[in-house]
Amino acid sequence: MNQSFNDEPNRISKTPSASAVEMTELVLPNDTNLLGNLLGGRMMHWMDIAGGMAAMRHSHRAVATISVDCLEFKQPVHVGEIVILKAKLTWVGRTSMEVVIRAFGENPQTGRTILTNVAYFTFVALDDHGKPTPVAVLVPESEEEFAEFKAAEHRRNQRIGKANCKI
Ligand SMILES: CC(C)(COP(=O)(O)OP(=O)(O)OC[C@H]1O[C@@H](n2cnc3c(N)ncnc32)[C@H](O)[C@@H]1OP(=O)(O)O)[C@@H](O)C(=O)NCCC(=O)NCCS
Repeated sequence: MNQSFNDEPNRISKTPSASAVEMTELVLPNDTNLLGNLLGGRMMHWMDIAGGMAAMRHSHRAVATISVDCLEFKQPVHVGEIVILKAKLTWVGRTSMEVVIRAFGENPQTGRTILTNVAYFTFVALDDHGKPTPVAVLVPESEEEFAEFKAAEHRRNQRIGKANCKI
């Protein structure tokens, strides 16, 4: 794990569950396209908010979104359905935090719930001058959290080296 920064030995440690967020939204007509399905942009907005709140809870700082990975739209969510967003930290570096956000669509008539989206958002903690600032170390607890941490390190290396996405 790349978690020990010798110049900052006093960083506190926190678990992923300490900052986990669950957020619920109702899909209203204004959130949908001409087919009555939830707009992709609205879903991305809600995922960004849920992930940002988890990152803020972990860092106790304002955060900025710096990248998004793996976002796909495989299942539509319909007007009148409920969207449940679950956000949890998977990895932290020095100032950046990766958060997995899972979105579920629930039909309130039947109670049927399906996983509709999974994405990995990276946020950077900012100090009072808007500059990146160190965050608490992340300490995975469960086997799943350890696996997520390892996978996140791999994603991070790929993300940083993505020459075709540079602006
Ligand atoms: C966030 C921001 C302040 C970071 O500034 P910066 O000069 O890139 O900062 P740094 O180079 O010191 O990098 C900060 C962290 O981001 C990470 N990072 C840089 N590029 C990245 C990328 N493409 N994907 C993921 N992480 C990245 C760095 O590795 C570093 O993480 P670490 O401290 O954990 O190692 C700046 O990029 C910014 O203002 N971006 C716009 C944010 C925004 O407007 N978002 C949308 C609305 S919230």
